[in-house]
Amino acid sequence: WSQTASKEAGVLHVGGVALTDLVREHGSPAYVLDEADFRARARAFRDAFRTYDVFYAGKAFLCTTVARWVAEEGLSLDVCSGGELAVAERAGFPMARVGFHGNNKSPAELERAVELGVGRIIVDSFHEIERLAEVARELGRTQPVLVRVTAGVEAHTHEYIATAHEDQKFGFSITNGAAYDAVQRVLAAESLELRGLHSHIGSQIFDSAGFEVAARRVLALHARVSDELGVELPEMDLGGGFGIAYTTQDDPSDPAQLATEMTTIVEHECRALGIPEPHLSIEPGRSIVGPAVCTVYEVGTVKEVALDGGSSRSYVSVDGGMSDNIRTALYDADYSCTLASRSSDAAPVLSRLVGKHCEAGDVVVKDEFLPGDVRPGDLVAVPGTGAYCRSMASNYNHLLRPPVVAVRDGVSRVVVRRETLDDLLSTDVGIDA
Ligand code: LLP
Repeated sequence: WSQTASKEAGVLHVGGVALTDLVREHGSPAYVLDEADFRARARAFRDAFRTYDVFYAGKAFLCTTVARWVAEEGLSLDVCSGGELAVAERAGFPMARVGFHGNNKSPAELERAVELGVGRIIVDSFHEIERLAEVARELGRTQPVLVRVTAGVEAHTHEYIATAHEDQKFGFSITNGAAYDAVQRVLAAESLELRGLHSHIGSQIFDSAGFEVAARRVLALHARVSDELGVELPEMDLGGGFGIAYTTQDDPSDPAQLATEMTTIVEHECRALGIPEPHLSIEPGRSIVGPAVCTVYEVGTVKEVALDGGSSRSYVSVDGGMSDNIRTALYDADYSCTLASRSSDAAPVLSRLVGKHCEAGDVVVKDEFLPGDVRPGDLVAVPGTGAYCRSMASNYNHLLRPPVVAVRDGVSRVVVRRETLDDLLSTDVGIDA
């Protein structure tokens, strides 16, 4: 739960706003964004990593309001598409503090980024190096660049979100020499300025051993560039991926501890290699916005289903589902939930929170003990939905994507409005158009 969440007489309050009032005003389902919590987590990273640049990874969740908070808290911004770049632009985010990622940025996206003066572009393929060099040359600019490398480590996380083993699409392999070649090609391009190397090993990672191995391998390459090419790279980015608690079983990452660990490894390695320490940066997304949001839903139906062995499970259906949170279906993610609109003395029963989609895999919370008297009209809230839920939301079954409502000091404000049927139908131009 976010830091300001608490229950009063069974009613969940976030940012001083009762979720019953919030739903009355803004409808359900809704993503409830705790502004104080978001800012506190952003600040905690900035303070713990004082000597680093902290890039908030916008892919976790981005809108113009959040981009402004990120700027105000002194963080930089990582974007990974022309769309995210457009949000940053509309928010008036300082472009010198934007990093642009992606393994297949289009020529138009690269052109826009260079034109806007994006602070760094992280290149991910030989094709891109050529394309970007050309774009920058034509615009008469010198574009600062980082080279994304694959550190060759097995990060302990879901296969879909691990990115540092060899057999996946991101980065230049250190092992097969591609990373070293990429460095040389960037150095050879007059319109590009090589600032350093970049490594991101994956997401929702708790074990710091992966970061340690990656940092060591990337620093070894950094040292080789200095030795053999006589180039001191001024920067290095160690990516994001710090895990958060989705259920009480997980132990969330602590920015201060992470900062100490990462700084120690880098200091130690640089001393051993006899090279000056590069200026470091990181890119946390989930660990800043994940815990700051909960999703509130209204219960529509409840169904008792018999299980083998004589027990039963209660299927509690809500007014959203896999279109506003695909993570359970896609990554087998674990979430929890609570009755948010009243207190109940009923005995807890094994329940499954499911959505309204035409698909059996449409599960939001696999297992939770909810009061046995949960009924239509009740509100249920799911914590920890700030990262990769709204940003991966879809219109599956033509559902309307829920709003994001920011709460602070007893006031709620819509920062992303609910979609309407007109929004939905506006792209369906039909054969008569
Ligand atoms: N930097 C780079 C280059 C990345 O690719 C990512 C995430 C991040 C930073 C931020 O990672 P974070 O701190 O948020 O873990 N949709 C998946 C997560 C995909 C992560 C993609 N890249 C999920 O819902 O778990």
